[in-house]
Amino acid sequence: MIASTPASWTPWTDRAGRISFIKLATLLGLLAPAMWMIAEWRLGWLSPKPTGDLVRESGDWAMRILVLSLVVTPLRYVARFNRAILVRRMVGLAALFYTLLHIALWCLDLHFEWLRIATELVLRLFLTVGLVATLLMVALGVTSNDWSIRKLGSAGWNRLHSWVYVATLLSLIHYFMEVRLDASEAALMCGLFMLLMSFRQIRKRATPGFLNLMLAALVCSVGAGLIEALYYKLSTSVNISRVLMANFDVSYRVSPALWVLGAGLAVAVLANLRARFGPKPARAARA
Ligand code: HEM
Repeated sequence: MIASTPASWTPWTDRAGRISFIKLATLLGLLAPAMWMIAEWRLGWLSPKPTGDLVRESGDWAMRILVLSLVVTPLRYVARFNRAILVRRMVGLAALFYTLLHIALWCLDLHFEWLRIATELVLRLFLTVGLVATLLMVALGVTSNDWSIRKLGSAGWNRLHSWVYVATLLSLIHYFMEVRLDASEAALMCGLFMLLMSFRQIRKRATPGFLNLMLAALVCSVGAGLIEALYYKLSTSVNISRVLMANFDVSYRVSPALWVLGAGLAVAVLANLRARFGPKPARAARA
């Protein structure tokens, strides 16, 4: 067993207290959005309602990092990138940090009028959904430590932490209920979430073969396109087939469906390369 030195508690070192490049790079990457928001606010780059801008920006980052936290497990098992485990806790806690920042900024926007805050949380459905997602994330955040793993046992802890998928789903619903004009990022997050869920299923049922992964990428890409089209169909009078066709037109943007397809194919190719040339599973797991 490795002795726990004070240095091993710092987020940029491994358990032996050595500086870990992957942890340091992840930490800096996760802090960058917060630094950027502080710079925007201090330098006056925001609109005349800066708090409202920051509520949206922190919400966007909370959502992106929450989805990113789900990438770690498929990266380990599908692409056999075991070192990803080193940053799983940090990424999950960063998602919680940006969510709490998002809520704190929203409370600031309402001038900390607690009665109004409580009323809005109960009466506006999209906020109630966001609150339930947050409570789940807090429960996962406070149990993200070695002591809780020991207390709950590995199986119990894993069962508890599989609630992250429910928290992400609720966060996506919260996001969609709030979107006004442009649903492309929300559709992208849904597509990536579907992709990660399907990788999870593939891992449970079969070895992640190239064809399985390609098929998952294709199905989730179509899913992202359909979700986006359906959103515009329900919220505007835009013709659903025109939105679907826009998914293949790359002249003014790369659609969420194409991003999802690209990400899925990249993982399929990576998994294939790792299976052929990378370390064998037993060695990879020990590493
Ligand atoms: C008590 C919990 C929550 C409250 C009170 C809350 C509050 C809000 C509010 C007021 C908005 C609308 C901002 C505007 O359009 O002016 C918003 C949008 C948003 N929230 Fe939350 N939220 C909560 C939880 C969450 C969670 C858990 C996530 C994801 C992890 C999240 C992600 C988002 C996103 C992505 C948006 C859309 C931002 C945009 O339009 O660019 N929120 N939230």
